[in-house]
Amino acid sequence: MRNVTKRFPGVVANDSVDLTIESGEILGLLGENGAGKTTLMNILYGLYSADEGEILVDGAVTKFDDPGDAIAAGIGMVHQHFMLVPVFDVTENVVLGVEPTVGPVGTIDMTEARREVQEISTQYRLEIDPSATVEDLPVGIQQRIEIIKVLFRDAEIIVFDEPTAVLTPQEVEDFFGIINGLKESGKGIIFITHKLGEILEIADRIAVLRRGKVVGEVVPAEATEEQLAEMMVGRPVDLVVEKEDADPGEVVLSVTDLLVRDDRQHTAVDRVSFEVRSGEIVGVAGVQGNGQTELVEALTGLTVPLSGMIHLGGENVTLVSPRFMHRNSVAHVPEDRQRSGLILDFDVAENLVLNSYYDEPYSHGIRMDWDYAHQHADQLIDQYDIRTPSSTVKVSSLSGGNQQKLIVAREFSRDTKLIIASQPTRGIDVGSIEYVHARIVAERDAGAAVLIVSSELDEILALSDRILVMYRGRIVAEVTGGEATATELGLYMAGLST
Ligand SMILES: Nc1ncnc2c1ncn2[C@@H]1O[C@H](COP(=O)(O)OP(=O)(O)OP(=O)(O)O)[C@@H](O)[C@H]1O
Ligand SMILES: [Mg+2]
Repeated sequence: MRNVTKRFPGVVANDSVDLTIESGEILGLLGENGAGKTTLMNILYGLYSADEGEILVDGAVTKFDDPGDAIAAGIGMVHQHFMLVPVFDVTENVVLGVEPTVGPVGTIDMTEARREVQEISTQYRLEIDPSATVEDLPVGIQQRIEIIKVLFRDAEIIVFDEPTAVLTPQEVEDFFGIINGLKESGKGIIFITHKLGEILEIADRIAVLRRGKVVGEVVPAEATEEQLAEMMVGRPVDLVVEKEDADPGEVVLSVTDLLVRDDRQHTAVDRVSFEVRSGEIVGVAGVQGNGQTELVEALTGLTVPLSGMIHLGGENVTLVSPRFMHRNSVAHVPEDRQRSGLILDFDVAENLVLNSYYDEPYSHGIRMDWDYAHQHADQLIDQYDIRTPSSTVKVSSLSGGNQQKLIVAREFSRDTKLIIASQPTRGIDVGSIEYVHARIVAERDAGAAVLIVSSELDEILALSDRILVMYRGRIVAEVTGGEATATELGLYMAGLST
């Protein structure tokens, strides 16, 4: 990519960017939230067209009007939000849009397609059953289907936009094995992540973007996490969370024998009991899919538990609505920002008052005070460093990490007695993680009870005063924050130690 510039109203997303990628190489692309990584890759994939600059493939200038052109030129992209049809099987998803046909009327040759999917799966050790239904498969396997889709279309350059954000540590290891295999077979890989350890482990070369510009290129052997962080955000970043020992007060959240079923009526939370006190951070560790999602949904009023009790400050809140919880100073950062944290079509200011617009000071009776809402928005944009041209742009145009920061700002800026945060820093750059973590500790020190659910062990270990490990719907271990090790937690999380 040569001299690529892309402007959106109020922002220069890419500013004369030069980027090369060779075959048989993994290029790590790093940069703070809103730096322009996704935009640059969307240009490479033909989703956006650049205002200036050009793309050369094998030395020849090419022009992509749409992803079809990019695919034809050998470029593939695995998006962060998978684009699979849940009720279709693996092969049906892979061939969608490029169905191989036989005979004069062009019927779809699924047998041939299945054989090809099997072949790709074997060649790259993806271990995929071509006939499995997608909705039954874990996230890590769904990602492999996206990889097969790209390989099925003969991609030579494959872009991964934050592929590891949704993976468990074991899935990340498997994923690294797969992309190393792709590299060995001569593919060029572009890998975007906010996890500095990962990029140092897997990349051959690292390019850093800041505010739309390439600010540097390094090789992992000559870089440290601290250096990369500083290159990204332009100042030194404290990668360690500073906090004093907790001084827990009265019980704020009390959960007794909670039993929750998931959508398919399987027991997801299996008679769980625990307490969270004012002034402490309790971390829930666990491999995703072990009941954490359903636990949080029950605690925030989003689902009704089958049995058991939830008390908030002594009051029975087992069957109350989400709005009741919001009004009673419970903050909630949901695990899936786009599905349950935001309304993408609403603007920044509207999203910042989604769960408070109906009360003073944002509204008086039935009259909404938009001036106040926008003032409030401007203040949070500044305080949380949400990169947006203004409070009136739609949230859909914000970068992924900035969408996440918006939710954190909304939830933490309310008067909070209990904070329930799932994957609070998913997709957030290191500089902003530092700030969010400091805010979580500050909320604790101001007397809030904090429950953090995260599949990031580093995050759990850095923040928690007490750690609960969930496995198959049960709490299988409780460990004191300062005494836990990643290895010990890992064993509990895998159900190998009780
Ligand atoms: N469709 C769009 N309309 C308007 N502005 C946009 C659009 N897409 C991106 N932007 C803006 O372009 C800039 C770069 O965004 P981009 O999504 O490329 O960042 P990123 O580096 O991928 O960040 P993150 O790490 O948070 O994913 C941001 O300021 C964003 O608000
Ligand atoms: Mg992005």
